[in-house]
Amino acid sequence: MKLAMLSLLLSGMMPWTLAAEPGAADVKAQMQASFQARGQAGMDRLDQDAIQAACSNPEGASAEVTMGLADASRAAVKYPADGVYLGDWRRGEQIAQRGTGLQYSDNPGEPNGGNCYACHQLAPTEIAYGTIGPSLTGYGKNRGSSEAMLKLAWSMVYDMKGYVPCSNMPRFGARQILTEDQLRDVMALLFDPDSPVNQ
Ligand code: HEC
Repeated sequence: MKLAMLSLLLSGMMPWTLAAEPGAADVKAQMQASFQARGQAGMDRLDQDAIQAACSNPEGASAEVTMGLADASRAAVKYPADGVYLGDWRRGEQIAQRGTGLQYSDNPGEPNGGNCYACHQLAPTEIAYGTIGPSLTGYGKNRGSSEAMLKLAWSMVYDMKGYVPCSNMPRFGARQILTEDQLRDVMALLFDPDSPVNQ
């Protein structure tokens, strides 16, 4: 038996490559078995809403379904009741540069970070940033800050899935990762003429 296994390994043919392709239910069962709840990171993290499920469908997402779900995501955006979209860019910068929050080891009593820098270039002077998302350098300077532009940016940061249904960007408002005030602060980082983003 041992020899048989060894020869399989040596020939590079793992026994499990002989099995059928795993389906969505197998993947879910494997995830359930691999993770354990710890602190604020509960098993409910594995529950997908309709748009996430559509985007992880191994058969591929149907355009009609995902676009319908994206329309629903945009319709669910909550805009600030007082019409004030911009807060303090200095606080916004701290939020953008902080990646803590929501992990099992983080203090749930502390405000979450936005981790924007992990995917976006923000200030042109920055030397360390991720490139999963587009550079946001000059964001407000290049686009102006009309009400329509502010609403569009708010709604993208609130829930990018309204625009790119299978986006990897965290859904900061829809998933209550950031509070309304924190959203205002990161908006100011994007739009305030004094913000390092617009220099
Ligand atoms: C995990 C990576 C990731 C993180 C973290 C992230 N984003 Fe994004 N962001 C993206 C991607 C990718 C796009 C491009 C759209 C897409 O493909 O989803 C994007 C697009 C955007 C856009 C639209 C750009 C345009 O062309 O108008 C804005 C604004 C934005 N992000 C702001 C933010 C802010 C503010 C934060 C932090 C609070 C943030 N993002 C955090 C990945 C990320």
